[in-house]
Amino acid sequence: MSATPTSTAPRTATQDFASHPEVAARLAEMRARYAKADPLTRIPDVDPRRIPRHIAVIMDGNGRWAKQRGFPRIFGHRNGARALRETVEEAGRLGVEAMTFYSFSLENWRRPPEEVQALMLLCVAYCEGEREALLRDDIRFRWIGRRDGLPAEVLAALDSVVDATSRCRGPTLCVAVNYGARAEIADAARRIADEIKAGTLRPEDINEEAVAARLYAPDLPDPDLLIRTAGELRVSNYLLWQISYAEMYVTSTLWPDFDSAALHQAIREYAGRSRRFGGLDDSDANPIGDLGA
Ligand code: FPP
Repeated sequence: MSATPTSTAPRTATQDFASHPEVAARLAEMRARYAKADPLTRIPDVDPRRIPRHIAVIMDGNGRWAKQRGFPRIFGHRNGARALRETVEEAGRLGVEAMTFYSFSLENWRRPPEEVQALMLLCVAYCEGEREALLRDDIRFRWIGRRDGLPAEVLAALDSVVDATSRCRGPTLCVAVNYGARAEIADAARRIADEIKAGTLRPEDINEEAVAARLYAPDLPDPDLLIRTAGELRVSNYLLWQISYAEMYVTSTLWPDFDSAALHQAIREYAGRSRRFGGLDDSDANPIGDLGA
């Protein structure tokens, strides 16, 4: 009997991954969480088990992007907000559960007042303009940062989208606004001190879990991957506690040019890395390795 063309056709990476029971289970878990999750259609060469659950992003290069085009810096920030939308939608399709974007740091108050004002207005416009799209895509909106110092309209806009999307079951989009990681850790320390003073916490109960539980979004998993655009090799006071074991990916792409293909590339590189969390690789765990075989 002659072989049918299908039986001799080389198997694709997608077929290989999809037929693996653990991959099938991970895909089912992703789809149960978010019906639009379909990583094998989007990046068939990446094992879905290696998709990061939480990605943190330092969106850098907006100003340079605008300057290259002869426009004011705020034009870059506006296009950065557009890139944010594309990235988070694609992340959802890839089965990523959460993304946290560095949108305005405590240090950003040092920028010229016109730029600060424009960023605050952009934040309000973003919240108002994205609400329907977030609801349509079942994306839950969160924000982290200090409330103190933010204009009332910005707080109202952020809180209102948080409320509106609180029942969304899909990926979480978290923006860090008026955020600094040292301030976040100091705020957690102050909460701990208050609880000890009130007698609801004992000093001997302070451990890593107790600190982590008092950060701004303790329910989000630690980021697996930290993406920084525009080439700088710094973490800039971003999620310092949470990124302890995150893999870093730095690209020279300026943030407004970051798109689905750029996200795929970051995830592809992440998926190819070996995460050791201070331990050893599986292949290194047995010191006699091949010699014992
Ligand atoms: C860094 O680029 C970017 C920022 C400080 C702001 C990022 C904000 C957005 C993309 C808008 C989205 C906002 C919300 C709240 C959803 P840069 O200006 O430092 O760029 P440069 O290094 O080229 O000057």
